[in-house]
Amino acid sequence: MAWRLFEEKDLAAMYRKYRLSSYDQVHNLIFNYLEKKKGKPFTLAVDIGCGSGQSTRGLASYFDKVVGIDVSEAQIEEAKKVDGPDNVSYRLGLAEELEFEDGSVDLVTSGTAAHWFDMEKFMKEAERVLKPKGCVALYCYANPTLLGYDNCPEDPAQIVEEMFALLEPYETKGYKTVWTDYQEQFDAITFPDKERAEDIYIKFKKPVSWIKGYLKSFGIYQIYLKKDPENADASLDQIEQRLINALGGSSETIVEFSLKYYCLLASKPE
Ligand SMILES: C[S@@+](CC[C@H](N)C(=O)[O-])C[C@H]1O[C@@H](n2cnc3c(N)ncnc32)[C@H](O)[C@@H]1O
Repeated sequence: MAWRLFEEKDLAAMYRKYRLSSYDQVHNLIFNYLEKKKGKPFTLAVDIGCGSGQSTRGLASYFDKVVGIDVSEAQIEEAKKVDGPDNVSYRLGLAEELEFEDGSVDLVTSGTAAHWFDMEKFMKEAERVLKPKGCVALYCYANPTLLGYDNCPEDPAQIVEEMFALLEPYETKGYKTVWTDYQEQFDAITFPDKERAEDIYIKFKKPVSWIKGYLKSFGIYQIYLKKDPENADASLDQIEQRLINALGGSSETIVEFSLKYYCLLASKPE
């Protein structure tokens, strides 16, 4: 099963350290959609495939209660280690078997996880647990791109792309849907009232060393590591060193990235 990739404790710890928290821009967009389609009250939001809670905590100010669900015990343990708002809790569970009452949820959301779901089963469950006009919001993002470095001996942006390209041979069928902006997931949404929000760009700064940690936190990196343990880390180290040389800095040099999000939004019929 694909989700077994996320059960390692080390991976969950990497997740907590290196994954990006969902940006307010994305949560605002989802909340505005829910407000338009369903309106108040906003009692309960469920964040599925919550990982170590980076997509969950940002929902706290919009809802009375937020529950993060993940199939991996290690991820849930990591999520619970982070101090967070009192109205957020975490539970072990599956996207395809949601343990919530019929018609009890205002928002079912998922950040960078829907490519691991069985969408047919997930949609049946989303339809069951959502209130009338309640919403589904599934979002994801492409690989971050490095911004603005001229006059380097090698193009640093190109080197970062090479780092991510190391993972391409290990992409699962589900994972490849990330590159089509979740077209498959969009088609699988059974609610007639559905739309996409595209091209949401976010800029952020991180040290060079972050890229390697972020890449190692990918489920598909675990496949690479298992299939080619001798080369996986070594290849990554070599490319990182080229990046450091190109920038003329160190692994702690701060660089700027751009990230493109997209989001599928849908509202349950009345
Ligand atoms: C890429 S992480 C996303 C974590 C977090 N939402 C974020 O925005 O970074 C995907 C998470 O989905 C979980 N997952 C995968 N398949 C799942 C399923 N069928 N039901 C529940 N969780 C699932 C994995 O255990 C993993 O923690």
